[in-house]
Amino acid sequence: MAVLLVVHHSPGPSLGAMLEQVLVGADAAGITGVEIRSVDALNAHASMVQAADGIILGTPANLGYMSGALKHFFDTTYNECLGATDSMPYGVFIHGESDTSGALLGITKIVTGLRWRLAQPDLSCIGAPDQSMLEACWELGAAMAAGLMDLPQA
Ligand SMILES: Cc1cc2nc3c(=O)[nH]c(=O)nc-3n(C[C@H](O)[C@H](O)[C@H](O)COP(=O)(O)O)c2cc1C
Repeated sequence: MAVLLVVHHSPGPSLGAMLEQVLVGADAAGITGVEIRSVDALNAHASMVQAADGIILGTPANLGYMSGALKHFFDTTYNECLGATDSMPYGVFIHGESDTSGALLGITKIVTGLRWRLAQPDLSCIGAPDQSMLEACWELGAAMAAGLMDLPQA
């Protein structure tokens, strides 16, 4: 079975609502053969990434960058993942109150180094997520999971 890993730091209600929709979408009717594994960024390990076929990253924008928790995830997994996760399809959702560009840029630089590939448009939400943003989160989860269906398994 293919594995979709969702690594997130979701301390507040907006991130929580976005994460929930990502997970509901990933588990949508019609998606088969994909196991969804959701883990807090502070508890994620390189082995989890290496066991995944796709990954979704979720973070608040904090002080112009990604959360310390997601940065910690990269700090502690980067070297083990480098060269072992090439071409990993990834998606990303970010929440902020004013400007998420620094967070997105930071993530993009790191995953470019890892040679991951953006599989779905990145999502940035400013302020409380409205219905269309929540639907976009659902779509992100569903599209990422659907993209892993029918992968040849070792
Ligand atoms: C210390 C701190 C720094 C923050 N820095 C930014 C920032 O640089 N850009 C931004 O858009 N939002 C910033 N925010 C807002 C957070 O992104 C927001 O509180 C977070 O996404 C959680 O939102 P929620 O509680 O509605 O889920 C900051 C919040 C805190 C507490």
